[in-house]
Amino acid sequence: MSGNPSLVIAIDGPAASGKSTVAKRLASELGIVFVSSGGMYRAFTWWVLENGVDPARTGDVEALLEKTEFQCGEQDNIGTIAVNGQLLSREQLANEAVNGGVSLVAAIPSVRSRLVDEQRAYAKERGVVMEGRDIGSVVFPDTSNKFYIDASPEVREQRRRAEGIDDSIAARDKMDSNRKASPLVIPEDATVVDSSDLSIEEVVEKVKKSLVS
Ligand code: C5P
Repeated sequence: MSGNPSLVIAIDGPAASGKSTVAKRLASELGIVFVSSGGMYRAFTWWVLENGVDPARTGDVEALLEKTEFQCGEQDNIGTIAVNGQLLSREQLANEAVNGGVSLVAAIPSVRSRLVDEQRAYAKERGVVMEGRDIGSVVFPDTSNKFYIDASPEVREQRRRAEGIDDSIAARDKMDSNRKASPLVIPEDATVVDSSDLSIEEVVEKVKKSLVS
């Protein structure tokens, strides 16, 4: 199945809905690549902050984007992104400043357009499970495998706290759902799974049962 470039599984949902863990588990079981598109927006946001650019100043972010090269690849079936040759750690991608700025950066259409091209490139050669906010609605609208993983706001806040991560998920969700460019939506043909009262295994099973090869 790993050589099947037509197997594209799109998993969307709000922050801390469990979509990332589910997507990673699914990709590993199917032997295909897992890509966190949020990680790509986070990587560029880290670079924005590193360069002393204010994420709220769209023009400055766009000027930096023009001078930025991305190198996307994979390591052990997990998508990687380097920014101007620099691979970033989990800590760098999930730090508080990045959490606070990423939704501003991700709302800029030119940023999305560059990263969506990179996201689509993953599916050119092999199967992929990609998670994010607009994967089923914009990045891969033609795939038959679209999932929307949800969870109650209370459960999501609790999951972040348990991870020890300081993350303003309510603010990010609000920005992600209300922006003009590719807002978080439930694609019409998506299978919706509420993970609030389910284990990761149960969510993975539900997704697997609905897969179309
Ligand atoms: O999934 P994660 O929480 O890491 O995503 C970080 C941020 O990246 C989101 O809050 C959102 O602003 C942005 N994002 C996006 N589109 C995607 C994935 C993430 O705008 N497909």
